[in-house]
Amino acid sequence: MEYCEISPTLPVYFETALGQMRLGDSLSFMKDGLCEESVDLIVTSPPFGLVRKKEYGNVDAEHYVDWFRNFGQEFMRVLKPTGSLVIDIGGSWNAGHPTRSLYHFELVVMLCRDLGFHLAQEFFWWNPSKLPSPAEWVTVRRIRVKDAVNCVWWLSKTPWPKASNRRVLVPYSSSMKELLKNGYATKKRPSGHDISANFSSNNEAAIPPNLLAVPNTESNSRYQRYCKKHGIKQHPARFPSELPEFFVRMLTDTGDLVFDPFAGSCVTGEVSERLKRKWICCESSEAYLAGAVGRFDRSPLKNDLFADEPQGKPSRSSAYSIHNPSALWNKIKSAVLSKDGGRRRPVQKSNGLGAKESEMIEAQN
Ligand SMILES: C[S@@+](CC[C@H](N)C(=O)[O-])C[C@H]1O[C@@H](n2cnc3c(N)ncnc32)[C@H](O)[C@@H]1O
Repeated sequence: MEYCEISPTLPVYFETALGQMRLGDSLSFMKDGLCEESVDLIVTSPPFGLVRKKEYGNVDAEHYVDWFRNFGQEFMRVLKPTGSLVIDIGGSWNAGHPTRSLYHFELVVMLCRDLGFHLAQEFFWWNPSKLPSPAEWVTVRRIRVKDAVNCVWWLSKTPWPKASNRRVLVPYSSSMKELLKNGYATKKRPSGHDISANFSSNNEAAIPPNLLAVPNTESNSRYQRYCKKHGIKQHPARFPSELPEFFVRMLTDTGDLVFDPFAGSCVTGEVSERLKRKWICCESSEAYLAGAVGRFDRSPLKNDLFADEPQGKPSRSSAYSIHNPSALWNKIKSAVLSKDGGRRRPVQKSNGLGAKESEMIEAQN
């Protein structure tokens, strides 16, 4: 896999034609190994600033921002001007109190105020299957509700990262379908918003909200079967593939370079490989990479009849449904992302699922 490397640094643990797993500290890897402005997207879930430590070690909330600063500086250096940094980060409780730490907000403020990133948009990943915790506040004293949402900070190097929401459209809600069928009387809303006739034009799919509803319930994936077969412990804090996939689709084109500096089981690499992006997964624990190799292994495994969960999961629709973000992914065709990040306003008419008639159409699968 070709990318701009200053000098060979960490050992390559595993590679495909499109990507590499690197074993070791991602900070040294970036500093000594990655050229300036060579990466299109960094998408990652770093160790969170938790009170209860995970087995791979976590920096506590109090020292988190200082710890992250060096990584942030390198992220800024290696990203292209059109590039984005996407950080999935869970909140944390203050030790001994039913109150929340501010560390993940302080992180995003530091990245923007001190290092010059721009907050392109904040997203929230809602995991409907999250267990209630911490037990003391939620299930024992019953004074807090379950914490089921992670913040996902989408940051960019410039105000105009390349991006297109046409890549991540979702099905219309049943009420929107009704409205499209029956028509909509143009009027001013109490909020003052003017709802014009354009609102009822059928674009075949809807623009998703910044709330991503994805249960983290992987139960029989190839990764899991590979780990079982080889007696490898599964990574204890994996994110669902839809999470990095949403951003890889929305923010990169085929052939772009995606980097995950806290790769764990290399979900980001698997998604990027499938979507034909180049990728680098850097992880400091060899045990996690040993399992991650299973994501790319094609030898037959027990239970192969239960193939990995299919793409484009159906999702039930109701007036207020939040669709799984992948609901339309294997139907969408879209144009190559505009290099100016949308600074110029497009003039063409929309065609079907949001693709532009006059632009080059690229199949995303
Ligand atoms: C939350 S986990 C990431 C899980 C991953 N998203 C997945 O789905 O498998 C964070 C990972 O960062 C790794 N890590 C921590 N510090 C690191 C560093 N300096 N360089 C590389 N990896 C690091 C930890 O070993 C851990 O596996």
